Amino acid sequence: MAASKKTNAPVEKNMNTWSGRFSEPVSELVQRYTASVSFDRRLAEYDIQGSLAHARMLAAANIIDADDLAAIQLGLGQIREEIRCGEFVWLLELEDVHLNIEKRLTALIGDAGKRLHTARSRNDQVATDIRLYLRASIDDIISLIHAMQHALLDLAEKHTDTVMPGFTHLQVAQPVVFGHHLMAYFEMLRRDVERLSDCRKRVNRLPLGAAALAGTSYPINRDRVAQELGFDGVCENSLDAVSDRDFAIEFCAAAALIMTHLSRLSEELILWMNPSFGFIDLADRFCTGSSIMPQKKNPDVPELVRGKTGRVNGHLVALLTLMKAQPLAYNKDNQEDKEPLFDTVDTLTDTLRIYADMLTGVHVNQDAMYKAAMRGYATATDLADYLVKKGLPFREAHETVAQAVRFADNNGRDLGALTLPELQQFSPLIEDDIFAVLTLEGSVNSRNHIGGTAPAQVSAAIARARKCLS
Ligand code: ARG
Repeated sequence: MAASKKTNAPVEKNMNTWSGRFSEPVSELVQRYTASVSFDRRLAEYDIQGSLAHARMLAAANIIDADDLAAIQLGLGQIREEIRCGEFVWLLELEDVHLNIEKRLTALIGDAGKRLHTARSRNDQVATDIRLYLRASIDDIISLIHAMQHALLDLAEKHTDTVMPGFTHLQVAQPVVFGHHLMAYFEMLRRDVERLSDCRKRVNRLPLGAAALAGTSYPINRDRVAQELGFDGVCENSLDAVSDRDFAIEFCAAAALIMTHLSRLSEELILWMNPSFGFIDLADRFCTGSSIMPQKKNPDVPELVRGKTGRVNGHLVALLTLMKAQPLAYNKDNQEDKEPLFDTVDTLTDTLRIYADMLTGVHVNQDAMYKAAMRGYATATDLADYLVKKGLPFREAHETVAQAVRFADNNGRDLGALTLPELQQFSPLIEDDIFAVLTLEGSVNSRNHIGGTAPAQVSAAIARARKCLS
């Protein structure tokens, strides 16, 4: 059967594939309310891929003949081209992506097109399409996370010696190096990739063959279809295969965590860019000005990352809620899985892409970081540790240092700026080797174990991370 070159012509209004059963057409409002084609057309490539594998299996199992298969392959090939070049006419009255493609196929090749749907249902078809779509999306997202991790490593590598205050309760706590701080985000993203890879295993199972809910009486070969589509295996229960969307929920949970991590980093970038901190500046291309305050440079991109995290978290809750009261097996509720899922993928993809670029445009003000660490008595713990090493019990050392900090504070100076006699008022154990301990460099260098902030350890962590990524 030769495939026509013309695009698909509109079909008669309200003539659905199942319309023989019904005595009146649905209203326009109901049609619009129940249709999903405006958003699920995005699954078209995967729908065609799934249909081709299904048709080849049907022919191999002698359920359809070789001529039918040839016509189906030709017709689906043409439809794929029409969709790719934007010529395909999507019709709301055909409800969804599956029926639109099937109708067009039948218009192009006649009865063979009608035989494609043998031994399958839209229920196992849509579940297959989503899994194919999500598997490809997970693979893209993992490479985008890797790109962002590379950007983090490049920045961290430049700042293995850049001292900044480490915070707890957003108060200066102990000095750390900026590279160490950045590597914390590297670790978060490492776990995010692990979560996605783990989720991918459960996404990558084939629902086709479950048909509407109970399986099919045709002698199908599900393993063959699974293999052709690159699935690791088949879903083992037909009712489960068509109904659960736990794999999508799991993905959205992993996505919400990634956004949460990026939101935390965004919050820090925003704080650090505030002139009261002045730790960093972002490249102008990620910021905007104010229409009335000419001095403003607003960190819009990180603010939006923080804001969009709310929307991604919302999608997770939407999908959980969608699923929670559904009896087995397929229910139309599941059509509502797509928009939250698509938007999660889009938001996450754009965010990761923009972040990798934004990190290359971070300008670091090392001086401001250093001065902030000097101001907050960040080496007080080091003084306490020094006294403990000289024999004082930790609790007493803690109290001694608290007194010294109070004295320094009253005098408007940092601990390292006190003289030896001044320090000795608080403990006779203090000698002039104390000044090595009270410097920021001495403090960070002393935390010299795996996971610590000593520059040598941070460099080693970066080297290990690079090896992991390559
Ligand atoms: N558009 C539907 C969805 O997204 C496809 C499956 C419809 N199945 C059905 N029996 N109505 O879930």
